[in-house]
Amino acid sequence: MNNEPFITIALPKGKLFKLSTDMFEKIGWTAEGLSEKSRKLVITNEEQRLKFIITKTADVPTYVEYGAADIGIIGKDVIAESGKDIYELLDLGFGKCHLMMAVPNDKKRPNLQDYAHTRVATKFPHIAEQFFSSQGMQMEYIKLNGSIELGPIIGLSESIVDIVETGTTLKENNLEEIVSIMDATARLIVNRVSFKLKFERINSMVTELKKVLEVSQI
Ligand code: PRP
Repeated sequence: MNNEPFITIALPKGKLFKLSTDMFEKIGWTAEGLSEKSRKLVITNEEQRLKFIITKTADVPTYVEYGAADIGIIGKDVIAESGKDIYELLDLGFGKCHLMMAVPNDKKRPNLQDYAHTRVATKFPHIAEQFFSSQGMQMEYIKLNGSIELGPIIGLSESIVDIVETGTTLKENNLEEIVSIMDATARLIVNRVSFKLKFERINSMVTELKKVLEVSQI
């Protein structure tokens, strides 16, 4: 019987899921039935001693920080917002997007400072707060969990701080970017203790992934 400890990998539901499983598949890390649609939340490959867990995007850093997952894939934006103590091993390059502030086209004000003391709807209140403070602006933050663009459309807030990937959502909701706050890509993160205890396997996985990423970036 194989007694080697399992490596547990936290994968986020949503845009990064398929990109992540495709990448792992290229280094032979996979498991039967690993699909975003799976109702089973832990998918195990006994032979390879791998466990994949499927989690809500914002929860990936938590699973990794506590060591419930050894490694995880998540966007830089979510890591920054979480403030969790995890170690970033690799910039995976995919999942490119940026975090920005936007307002309705017809409600643009001349300067950024003109929005001081207004309401911002966002999934990223910590990053937003950091940014506006750095601009000397006090704001009121309204935390939403999705469909952030609704905020200014229905008068909940003056602006949003949210992720833009293709720009389609902004366009379709008549919103316009005012200022870019940070760029983000997907990262491979690891629990600090797991990295020491399972160093050999994790390190060789990183080496393999680097090879795969080099090829896919050509
Ligand atoms: C994200 C983000 C925007 C959209 C941007 O939402 O919050 O709404 O994607 O992408 P685009 O620039 O390509 O249009 P997501 O689809 O993750 O869902 P959510 O609204 O539930 O957060």
